[in-house]
Amino acid sequence: MNILVTGGTGYIGSHTSVALIEAGHEIVVADNLCNSKASTIDRIKEITGKEVTFYQVDVTGEEALDRLFSKHHFDGVIHFAGLKAVGESVEKPLLYYYNNTVSTMVLSKFCLKNKVKKFIFSSSATVYGDNKVPFVETMELLPTTNPYGETKAISERILKDVANVNPDFEVSILRYFNPVGAHESGLIGEAPTGIPNNIMPYITQVAKGKLEKLKIFGNDYPTVDGTGVRDYIHVMDLAEGHVVALEHLTPGVHIYNLGTGHGASVLQLVHTFEEANGVKIPYEIVGRRPGDIAESYADVSKAERELGWTTKRDIYQMCRDAWNFERNFKE
Ligand code: NAD
Ligand code: UD1
Repeated sequence: MNILVTGGTGYIGSHTSVALIEAGHEIVVADNLCNSKASTIDRIKEITGKEVTFYQVDVTGEEALDRLFSKHHFDGVIHFAGLKAVGESVEKPLLYYYNNTVSTMVLSKFCLKNKVKKFIFSSSATVYGDNKVPFVETMELLPTTNPYGETKAISERILKDVANVNPDFEVSILRYFNPVGAHESGLIGEAPTGIPNNIMPYITQVAKGKLEKLKIFGNDYPTVDGTGVRDYIHVMDLAEGHVVALEHLTPGVHIYNLGTGHGASVLQLVHTFEEANGVKIPYEIVGRRPGDIAESYADVSKAERELGWTTKRDIYQMCRDAWNFERNFKE
């Protein structure tokens, strides 16, 4: 299939681009580079040995999309492009609501206009809010505590309403748990600008000596050791989940959790990282981060049953690959 990958130079988009090419698909990447670099395209080419067509465009812009859809025939769109910093979304709500929901609306409009039937959307486990674990796709969604989370819930709703009146439209909404790690080549990975918000890039930067020590946000949660529990998933498992979801699309809206189904606490993650890589991660316990929940992990039985997809890489490999990328990464 010929697939438009929006946000394809970003963290998850670049790994999924590799997985798509390796599965025999052709891709066109569209990204405005607001949170990534064009050099990632060269990395994707280096890993796969294939040419990749890249456009630097903002996917909220109708004129640019008109040109793109006139020039290429797509069988499907995988829509990763979005802003994802939770704290920034509180500071700049309009930027987040505009970018993340308008892109979904404009892209689905161009799909319908150009008879592109397949659409995959990057949602997040954040839409479950503080529900009871494990999170199941059928759960009623609880309000999220920030505009970022709302943009995901709203985009899901938009896609459901659009599919409702366009019975040929085939939509897969993928709710990611906590993607970590990197491609095993070490050529692509997660390289946030500034001080990382998410735990794995924070840990790898402590390991590298760029940051002094990890601050653990709270050890008084009702969890195995008091620290927050999350379902960490290797980014390549997540990437392969997109390929399988694409290849299984049928008319209507299909929602899948993409996680491992197992939770790990912050302390368990830190200790696994130390063991897997033979490095020490100094840390201190500080207060809880506002908006955090105690536990988040997926019920993955639907993806397993309907897509035949399960994760293959364990938490040791996530830690090894994350460190392998950071160790070799140059700004
Ligand atoms: P990322 O920031 O690395 O990648 C997103 C890409 O989208 C970037 O390359 C950015 O330049 C591009 N972009 C943003 N707005 C754009 C626009 N208007 N037009 C064109 N390009 C635009 O983030 P990621 O971690 O790869 O996340 C990909 C998607 O998955 C996002 O929608 C994110 O919200 C979602 N998601 C991520 C996580 C996570 O933990 N990383 C978890 C759940 C959901
Ligand atoms: C965060 C976002 C969430 C988003 C998800 C994936 C917030 C409040 N939530 O969730 O909306 O969908 O990323 O992008 O930002 N931790 C530390 N020290 C740190 C960083 C994190 O102790 O420096 C802890 C957290 O308290 C949490 C765990 O590590 O228990 C994972 O944190 P993080 O990687 O930020 O992911 P989420 O909290 O799941």
